Amino acid sequence: MSVTRDDVLLWIRAYAEVIDSNMEYLTELDAKIGDADHGANMNRGFKAVLTKLPDNEDKDIGGIMMAVGMALLSKVGGAGGPLYSTIFIQAGKSIDGKMEFGLEDWAKALEAATIGVINLGKASLGDKTMVDALIPAVEALKEASQQGLSLREGLEKSAKAAEKGMIATIPLVARKGRASYLGERSAGHQDPGATSTFMLLDTAVKVWAEV
Ligand SMILES: Nc1ncnc2c1ncn2[C@@H]1O[C@H](COP(=O)(O)OP(=O)(O)OP(=O)(O)O)[C@@H](O)[C@H]1O
Ligand SMILES: [Mg+2]
Repeated sequence: MSVTRDDVLLWIRAYAEVIDSNMEYLTELDAKIGDADHGANMNRGFKAVLTKLPDNEDKDIGGIMMAVGMALLSKVGGAGGPLYSTIFIQAGKSIDGKMEFGLEDWAKALEAATIGVINLGKASLGDKTMVDALIPAVEALKEASQQGLSLREGLEKSAKAAEKGMIATIPLVARKGRASYLGERSAGHQDPGATSTFMLLDTAVKVWAEV
């Protein structure tokens, strides 16, 4: 009942594909409340990740995740790049040295990632950002871990919680990032960063189906 290094590599590669096939969708979401670049930013970042992955595959899971974060930081500017980079670097630091991990480790890693995003971007729950997907996902993972649920159940619950958080961004007025420039007009649209974050956790469920 654990996620191995190979599982992590599969997850990262699968997410790069998800981003590639949802590039237009994410761009459309960002066109409504931002500057229509979230899909392109993420796709450029994860293409760079794919290029760097072969040089880092022999590292432990933490090392691989930190390398993903560094690749994103080098290729994606603006707000989204450093924030996504932080997710991978902080989660990687939390899992550093491990060749496999379980539900409790994953809950801690995603919590470290979320704290990193909050420290960097200063967003709170309800500000209509990726934090609205991350916080409920972390809560679901911690609860599942405390209840002694299986890794698979914990992953499923975290993806569901992230999806709920993503959908809950629709009526919100943005208080952080470019979308906040729109004020009340940002309401009625789903946040692109919360959407790509849900996809990240949903891909984990799909790829780690057998763990
Ligand atoms: N301060 C913040 N804290 C957390 N998440 C944020 C913050 N600002 C923006 N975001 C997230 O980033 C997403 C936008 O990412 P995107 O890749 O489009 O970057 P961007 O803000 O357009 O960058 P740029 O300024 O370079 O255009 C938003 O949908 C939101 O989820
Ligand atoms: Mg944008």
